[in-house]
Amino acid sequence: MSDASLEQSLKLLREEAGMVCHSASSHVIIVFGASGDLAKKKIYPTLWWLFRDKLLPSNTHFIGYSRSNLTVDNLRSNAMPYLNAKDSESTQLDEFFKRNSYVQGSYDKPEDFIRLNKFIVDNFSACSNRLFYLATPPSQFISVATNLKAHCTAESDGLWNRLIVEKPFGKDLDSSEVLAKHLSSLFSEDQIYRIDHYLGKEMVQNVVVLRFANRVFSPLWNRDNIANVVVTFKENFGTEGRGGYFDEFGIIRDVMQNHLLQILCLIAMERPISMEANDIRDEKVKVLRCMRPLSLDDVVVGQYVADPENGKPGYLDDPTVPAGSITPTYAVAALYVDNERWQ
Ligand SMILES: NC(=O)c1ccc[n+]([C@@H]2O[C@H](COP(=O)([O-])OP(=O)(O)OC[C@H]3O[C@@H](n4cnc5c(N)ncnc54)[C@H](OP(=O)(O)O)[C@@H]3O)[C@@H](O)[C@H]2O)c1
Ligand SMILES: *[C@@H]1O[C@H](CO)[C@@H](O)[C@H](O)[C@H]1NC(C)=O
Ligand SMILES: *[C@@H]1O[C@H](CO)[C@@H](O)[C@H](O)[C@H]1NC(C)=O
Repeated sequence: MSDASLEQSLKLLREEAGMVCHSASSHVIIVFGASGDLAKKKIYPTLWWLFRDKLLPSNTHFIGYSRSNLTVDNLRSNAMPYLNAKDSESTQLDEFFKRNSYVQGSYDKPEDFIRLNKFIVDNFSACSNRLFYLATPPSQFISVATNLKAHCTAESDGLWNRLIVEKPFGKDLDSSEVLAKHLSSLFSEDQIYRIDHYLGKEMVQNVVVLRFANRVFSPLWNRDNIANVVVTFKENFGTEGRGGYFDEFGIIRDVMQNHLLQILCLIAMERPISMEANDIRDEKVKVLRCMRPLSLDDVVVGQYVADPENGKPGYLDDPTVPAGSITPTYAVAALYVDNERWQ
């Protein structure tokens, strides 16, 4: 054996033993809660579009993980109505699902995560970058993150691990701090991605471009020319069986405190130093710090009732909503930004 091929064999052996990786030989995206609503409606469609448009590295694989007894074919038929795949794309769609696998397991048993790790190493490579997408109810985040850190992360230099979490990031300050503290004890801030789908909407992204790319707006965008800005979010359907989740949160926690406050910040903020995430974040924080604490006199809440004309049930008619619930499904609030631009 020549020195070069010996060297090469040793490198492969070391890589197989998971000891050292010079670079990633593959990328693995693992979706926890793969049997769920978010997975079929948003995550699998997005992964498919990224794959179809060749925006992913060539050696990327997808693993669905949840407690249900499923196959890749089940994942495919669940997601099918949301994939918007054209007939002409059927070969590519087959290719995409060939890159998918499914692992059944719990969210709290170490042995299941050890098995998941073995699945990755055996089928792909110990030298794979790993992206973990937590599409489970928030109650499972801490246990999944703990097990991931202990058993499933790529540990060699030159590889990365990333963790994506979906809102809600807790339901009040205390639970949010518990979650934040826990995640930051396991993963560094630059490994954690918090997703707000609403900010990905084209209209929302356009707000920033519209404001800062058009010089005609900057002299007008202030208290002298704008009496107030109304941010409206309307949904023309009810809870429809999602009452179990919704009733614990209500409309303020579900959309106002996250999606709508983010939009308020984009509209009210000063021009960021750059379009880098941290610079935009800094400007948003300044807006929030200039806001008066919300007073109850400036808030109206309500709950939708049945619409007999269209046969639509009221909030309390939904069997998944606890009887007598006073959770708001409607809220309006007047907020004040006390800075030089808006005071
Ligand atoms: N759906 C959306 O459009 C949407 C939008 C924004 C944010 N989110 C957030 O995204 C995450 C996932 O949402 P989702 O709507 O997909 O939730 P989901 O369908 O209720 O749950 C996802 C999966 O988690 C498992 N699961 C459900 N309840 C569980 C429990 N009590 N204990 C352990 N496992 C449980 C189930 O899989 P197995 O039983 O097979 O394990 C389920 O298929 C949540 O954090 C949600 O708040 C969702
Ligand atoms: C999973 O489902 C298949 C049929 O789809 C069945 O044959 C198998 O026994 C099930 N496994 C478990 C662990 O329930
Ligand atoms: C992946 O590896 C596991 C062993 O960890 C094996 O049981 C399974 O069949 C493999 N799956 C594929 C799709 O190769």
